Amino acid sequence: MRNSIKLLVILVSVGDYIYLGSKFTAQESMVLLRNDGTLPINFGAFKSVALIGPCADDPDCNTGDYNPQPAYIVTPRAAFLNRSGLTVNYASGCADVKCTSSAGFASAVTTARSSDFVVYVGGISHTIEGEGHDRANIFLPGLQSDLITMLVQVGKPVVVVLTHGAPVVSPVYASVNAVLSAGYAGQEAGNAVYAVLTGLYNPAGHTVVTWYTNGSQLPAMTNYSMVNRTYRYMTATPLYKFGYGLSYTKFNYSHFQLSPQTDIKPCDSVEMKVTVTNIGSVVGSEVVQFYATLTNSPVTTAHIKLVGFNRVENLSQGAHAVVTVSMDPSQMTVIYDFGNVPMIVPGEYQVYAGGSQPNDHNSPSNVLSLSFTITGDPIPLSNCTSN
Ligand SMILES: *[C@@H]1O[C@H](CO)[C@@H](O)[C@H](O)[C@H]1NC(C)=O
Ligand SMILES: *[C@@H]1O[C@H](CO)[C@@H](O)[C@H](O)[C@H]1NC(C)=O
Ligand SMILES: *[C@@H]1O[C@H](CO)[C@@H](O)[C@H](O)[C@H]1NC(C)=O
Ligand SMILES: *[C@@H]1O[C@H](CO)[C@@H](O)[C@H](O)[C@H]1NC(C)=O
Ligand SMILES: *[C@@H]1O[C@H](CO)[C@@H](O)[C@H](O)[C@H]1NC(C)=O
Ligand SMILES: *[C@@H]1O[C@H](CO)[C@@H](O)[C@H](O)[C@H]1NC(C)=O
Ligand SMILES: *[C@@H]1O[C@H](CO)[C@@H](O)[C@H](O)[C@H]1NC(C)=O
Repeated sequence: MRNSIKLLVILVSVGDYIYLGSKFTAQESMVLLRNDGTLPINFGAFKSVALIGPCADDPDCNTGDYNPQPAYIVTPRAAFLNRSGLTVNYASGCADVKCTSSAGFASAVTTARSSDFVVYVGGISHTIEGEGHDRANIFLPGLQSDLITMLVQVGKPVVVVLTHGAPVVSPVYASVNAVLSAGYAGQEAGNAVYAVLTGLYNPAGHTVVTWYTNGSQLPAMTNYSMVNRTYRYMTATPLYKFGYGLSYTKFNYSHFQLSPQTDIKPCDSVEMKVTVTNIGSVVGSEVVQFYATLTNSPVTTAHIKLVGFNRVENLSQGAHAVVTVSMDPSQMTVIYDFGNVPMIVPGEYQVYAGGSQPNDHNSPSNVLSLSFTITGDPIPLSNCTSN
């Protein structure tokens, strides 16, 4: 009896651990891409919410490909239904993410009309991207954008939640109040979406891919030149830049310092230090990012590259943190065509510290910039003894 009670206690705590772990992981991976101030949802002002879209109540939207089979999956609809004092209306609108028919649109619009607030959950799933499933374009599939346009026309606040692996874009994002990238968030997906949309969790994820505006910004698949490929070589402005993500608070950067500042030789490391301050009104976490550009490179190389980052957790209002990363010789190399040898070359590095890439017009925080100069002869990285 005693032993079985002990066993039961262990099982319960492992279960709690899995529950907490999967919810934290889901929350922390979500990226708030757009918010006109509608989020977090203020339920004091709303009595009913419409959950609409092919992924609002389809567990299959949350697993991705090559996935384990979770014991359960909480959909966004289930998560909202689990909260008392709120009327949750529901219409899928589309039969699935392919959304090839508008047969369900009228019912979705009626559902939106009879609610104070609209949460559209759509995007893609493993039935569209994954093994044996390639996308022909990067847009929201089928008629999903048309459905969102009809929901916007109802006149209630509309928030779009995207399930996806690779980016999925649409011109309709510009006309909705907020867009949340939820990824394939797993078994606790719905509860994590609920926590982020309502501000129980302040989102802090930053996107790890470039969200091209459309396929015309992508270089040809048949040419593996790096020109315009990835944030490092792209010259045009995408929809959302690599490294971008919003929070419900605001961060400001100051006291950017390099050490050493001068007399830097090939093989030296440069320490970069910056202070990040929460100047908003709620607790928040931030991904502090450092980028570098080699100005006047002797060979074609990345326009810009991420050289370090660190996530600062739970910064209170008015509090600051100092983040330090080291830019090592291996991050100061270029590749000459001959020999494929990473070389450290003399020249000037412009370096940046902030919550995004420099010149990200979507990002609300400032980005600071400094430079340092490497003097001496070019040297293969392999000649630096510490490498
Ligand atoms: C519903 O909410 C309760 C209390 O917050 C929680 O314990 C339970 O796990 C939730 N159910 C689901 C399906 O998430
Ligand atoms: C693709 O995006 C560019 C802006 O980057 C825009 O000028 C063009 O009209 C778009 N094309 C399509 C097919 O959406
Ligand atoms: C591939 O693209 C690069 C950069 O635009 C160009 O210089 C090169 O000629 C292209 N190669 C082929 C085979 O089209
Ligand atoms: C790269 O992007 C720039 C800016 O959009 C464009 O002018 C140029 O034609 C693109 N080059 C290739 C090879 O796609
Ligand atoms: C943000 O930091 C800069 C220094 O990097 C400072 O000049 C500015 O006053 C700060 N802004 C706020 C709102 O604290
Ligand atoms: C941040 O705050 C959340 C919510 O209070 C808490 O669950 C989490 O453990 C905290 N993280 C750290 C690193 O303190
Ligand atoms: C790099 O090391 C190789 C082998 O040790 C040596 O032959 C070469 O001169 C070195 N090059 C430079 C630029 O120091």
